[in-house]
Amino acid sequence: MPLSATSDRDRDEQGPQPSLPKATFSFRCIGCGSISAAAAQDFRCSQCNNLLEITDPSWKSPSLNAATLKSSWRERRSSNAALDLSGVWRFRELLPVPKSEQYVVTLREGNTPFYELPLSSRITGVSRLYAKHQGMNPTGSFKDTGMTVASTFARQAGYCWVACASTGNTSASMAAYAARGGMRSLVLVPEGKISWSKLSQALDYGALTCQLRTDFDGCLRLLQELVRRAPVYQLNSINPFRLEGQKTLAIELLEQLDWQPPDHIIVPGGNLGNSSAIGKALLEMRDIGLILRLPKLSVVQAEGANALVRTLREAEGKRLISVQAETRATAIRIGNPASWEKAVKVIQATGGACEQVSEVEIAQAKAEIGAEGIGCEPASAVTLAGLKKLVRQGFVKPDETVVLVLTGNLLKDPDFTMEFHRGDLFQDTPVHGTPREREGNLLNPLRHPPIVLDATLNAVIQTLERAEKSDPPHPNAESNT
Ligand SMILES: Cc1ncc(COP(=O)(O)O)c(C=O)c1O
Ligand SMILES: [Zn+2]
Repeated sequence: MPLSATSDRDRDEQGPQPSLPKATFSFRCIGCGSISAAAAQDFRCSQCNNLLEITDPSWKSPSLNAATLKSSWRERRSSNAALDLSGVWRFRELLPVPKSEQYVVTLREGNTPFYELPLSSRITGVSRLYAKHQGMNPTGSFKDTGMTVASTFARQAGYCWVACASTGNTSASMAAYAARGGMRSLVLVPEGKISWSKLSQALDYGALTCQLRTDFDGCLRLLQELVRRAPVYQLNSINPFRLEGQKTLAIELLEQLDWQPPDHIIVPGGNLGNSSAIGKALLEMRDIGLILRLPKLSVVQAEGANALVRTLREAEGKRLISVQAETRATAIRIGNPASWEKAVKVIQATGGACEQVSEVEIAQAKAEIGAEGIGCEPASAVTLAGLKKLVRQGFVKPDETVVLVLTGNLLKDPDFTMEFHRGDLFQDTPVHGTPREREGNLLNPLRHPPIVLDATLNAVIQTLERAEKSDPPHPNAESNT
């Protein structure tokens, strides 16, 4: 299959490239352990149909000296080569690499900020509480770190078409990377169940976008059939190259912490690719000696999309219990998570927990993260809501270091945010388990609806005075010196 018009513009922009290490990776089935040099279109084991992961003997080799790696990764931060400017390819010794750097599709992903969360720290009582904000990636979500790697391999394999099923963020990211890499993209999304903001990204980046009358799980099932029939490269997180790129979230985080592991990392769970990727990175970093201790990796889901919670509680992680998913955190509205076995393994290997949170708890936590001046999309806010529960249960201690992974940008779901502040977020949806009155008590103090005024100085001054009387000073006032 011919490679469709690859972007010469990209190569010209990138200038001279540092060389890539030699590719030595293979695919390993997570079920039967069989190893293969190539993978089928559906990225499933030909023997037992389970998912594949990527493995590379060089990642365990003594030639990968931890101190040397740390210093060369740090040095690359002052390089202007495109591969080094990417917060993913900067860590290429722990990634599958293409045959040549000419295939690399990058938007300078990764390099995301690490923030203190002083307000949330006071709310939870956890004094060392931080956020790794993956919503600050080029298309506004963590998906970009995986997409740069997987789209690179699609380009190397010569595909004209790439495709994904999506709750929104994957499609936005895939469409952008396909456009940069000179490939066409096909998006399958559940009709009416993803935010306009994400859908609009896919349209603008030029994807062929199909809104299917089904849910995410239905879209993914259809995609799996499609890739067996048509020469289309699938870019869902079933594609193990995606997870390899997403590993760099954890590597970059540890670098930002000067390689001192936090006690806990808390991540939202949907299709469970991201938690699996973070866990894989933690185990590999421990094996190489980049870190000497494993953080506990915990996954939080919405109560209405709690397949992993139920799988662990009711089936001890041995078989998947799927659910009919329903939540306003549409990014994690997934009932049949593909990577559940990978996630169970890493939660158990790191000693993490799995929790669920209600719709009201998600809305409250999202507003609290907004009040930090950071913001995130609803799915990301399950991390703070889950942390509150884990502290109450004694699983997280107040003197431990905790990092929340914020997966998507605040601007990803403006409808949710506007409805929250106007007070009509739960008007048409049931509020799982929280009485209306309690919902009001919890959420009203966090609401800041817009005020419509006559365009006069007096009207503005009176509004300012009223706000001064009724609102307490900003809770961060003392620490903002
Ligand atoms: C913002 C956001 N957070 C969390 C998730 C869940 O990630 P995963 O499906 O890898 O579990 C998604 C998935 O689409 C997402 O878009
Ligand atoms: Zn197998």
